[in-house]
Amino acid sequence: MKILGIETSCDDTGAALLEGGRNTAQILSNVVASQIEIHQKYGGVYPTLAKREHQKNLPLVFTQALGESKPDAIAITYGPGLSPCLWQGITFAQEKAQELNIPLIPVNHMEGHLLAALLFSGKDQEFETDISHELLPALGLLVSGGHTELILVEKLGAYKIIGETRDDAAGEAFDKTARILGLPYPGGPEIAAKAKESKQNTFDIRLPRPMLHTKDFDFSFSGLKTAVLYDYNSRTPEERESASYIQEMAKEIQEAILDVLMKKTFAAADEYAIKTLTIGGGVSANDELRARFLKEAENRGIILRVPPKHLSTDNGAMIALAGYIKWLRGEYLSSDARIEAEPNLRLE
Ligand code: KG4
Ligand code: ZN
Repeated sequence: MKILGIETSCDDTGAALLEGGRNTAQILSNVVASQIEIHQKYGGVYPTLAKREHQKNLPLVFTQALGESKPDAIAITYGPGLSPCLWQGITFAQEKAQELNIPLIPVNHMEGHLLAALLFSGKDQEFETDISHELLPALGLLVSGGHTELILVEKLGAYKIIGETRDDAAGEAFDKTARILGLPYPGGPEIAAKAKESKQNTFDIRLPRPMLHTKDFDFSFSGLKTAVLYDYNSRTPEERESASYIQEMAKEIQEAILDVLMKKTFAAADEYAIKTLTIGGGVSANDELRARFLKEAENRGIILRVPPKHLSTDNGAMIALAGYIKWLRGEYLSSDARIEAEPNLRLE
């Protein structure tokens, strides 16, 4: 069966077509219209502006993703995310489901990130449709612009949040500190690129690693932006505008965030004796993060599953996949079902 996934929870308009089979599901198309250029002017995502862009882009990405095919069901993100953006996608999906007279499947955006990572088969454009017993329990680290969560997966569909951020998300920490340094939105890729260029250690910058030694698996990143601002303000204008200051600061920001993510994730991996670790969400597109987690997972004999970058950031294929998994369990609604946006939806 063919399932069309639609994603509009934040600033990307995504539509993708997935062919769901017995053991695998293949991505037939995956179209994402990015709004980065628009939001760059404002240094962040403006919900009403994002909603208008979704309205404009949805018919285009829908047509492009579908091509000549007719879908058998539509999966749509209903939360968590920005309320006006979620509603825009839901309304569109409902209209199309009625026009085509096909079922609707409401999907949790975070389950999309989790499954796109956990079920990625290692082959291009291919997901598995279940997870074998030997790979469980699994642990998912979900790191995006709005969320930082550690999810224990006992089986498909049975999730428990065992740790999460108490304030800012990891992606938000990248975005906010980048802004202090005068780097454009989104800050994650910008900080990563500057960090890569860093060759020296002239400024000896030291940022805190919040909650590194607490016994729980929670995170806190809001102190980081304060610390960056404090250091930044203590420098002369010449210093802080120099290429090497920005590079060294970017490197320290990335390291501080990764140190905390690594420590808490592997502490949780020990505690729950997990077999598989998977990382999803936009921040997991970070090369340094991938390299560090891969090395540590190998050392500990834990299987690491990370999808290609375009499946880590927001996209429609992950929504189609999570929708297909629900479909297999018989969890779908009729074409005229009313779906409500749930901006604060949780994965439990
Ligand atoms: O999952 P996502 O695409 O959208 C949300 O659901 O939030 O994640 C976006 C976040 C942004 O904060 C962005 O700065 C961050 O992911 N990000 C990165 C990288 N690429 C995107 N953070 C660090 N390194 C990257 N390479
Ligand atoms: Zn996301």
